[in-house]
Amino acid sequence: MAIGHGSFITFEGGEGTGKSTQAARLAARLREEGHRVVVTREPGGSPGAEAVRHVLLSGAAEEFGTRMEAILFAAARSDHVEELIRPAVARGDIVLCDRFMDSTRVYQGVTGNLEPRFVDALERVAVNGMQPDLTIILDVDAETGLARARQRAASSKAPDRFERETVAVHEKRREAFLELAEKYPERCRVVTSVGDVDRVERAIADIVLSFLDQSPTAQAGRR
Ligand code: TYD
Repeated sequence: MAIGHGSFITFEGGEGTGKSTQAARLAARLREEGHRVVVTREPGGSPGAEAVRHVLLSGAAEEFGTRMEAILFAAARSDHVEELIRPAVARGDIVLCDRFMDSTRVYQGVTGNLEPRFVDALERVAVNGMQPDLTIILDVDAETGLARARQRAASSKAPDRFERETVAVHEKRREAFLELAEKYPERCRVVTSVGDVDRVERAIADIVLSFLDQSPTAQAGRR
């Protein structure tokens, strides 16, 4: 990425891995350090993508098949990239995104059994060169993650279309995220997200701060 540009950092992992909590904590830490930070999520993050989010998470598109869902995720992602992520990075901000293309690879590609060529083609169009500089993969065993997601659902909302699936499916996703980390070691870092939330927060902050120090965009997003 060219000097003077910001950074694009994604959070990935299964259900109940603590991505949104950790993204919010990291944002607070980076702001304390003087960075300008944008926190966003997928599916959603821009008005067009938020409109598609409900269709996907309610399960309304499920009966039309995984290809249809993957195309809708890609449509939402394309809007999100062009309307929010790319402009923010171009003005020098640090963008923290809760889920991105790796979620499609895992949920639609691996556990949705979509052909890799189809997923790759969608990714090229949707991401349009806007690859993450760093991806934090939060890792938790499927039982623990699902129990956390269900606890959250009981207190706020019903489980979404993807949370309703079995532990075996969630375990397969966990393994698929770990395989992505092995395949792309230059951008992926795995953080075990069990036990003390503060410890997980510190582990993530260490990774991100050293990444920012070493990157040619070390001053990215400083006010
Ligand atoms: P969300 O309520 O944002 O939950 P989470 O905290 O788990 O991220 O729900 C997003 C759901 O959409 C989640 O179950 C994963 C799924 N998803 C995909 O299947 N493919 C994708 O490309 C993305 C971005 C999300």
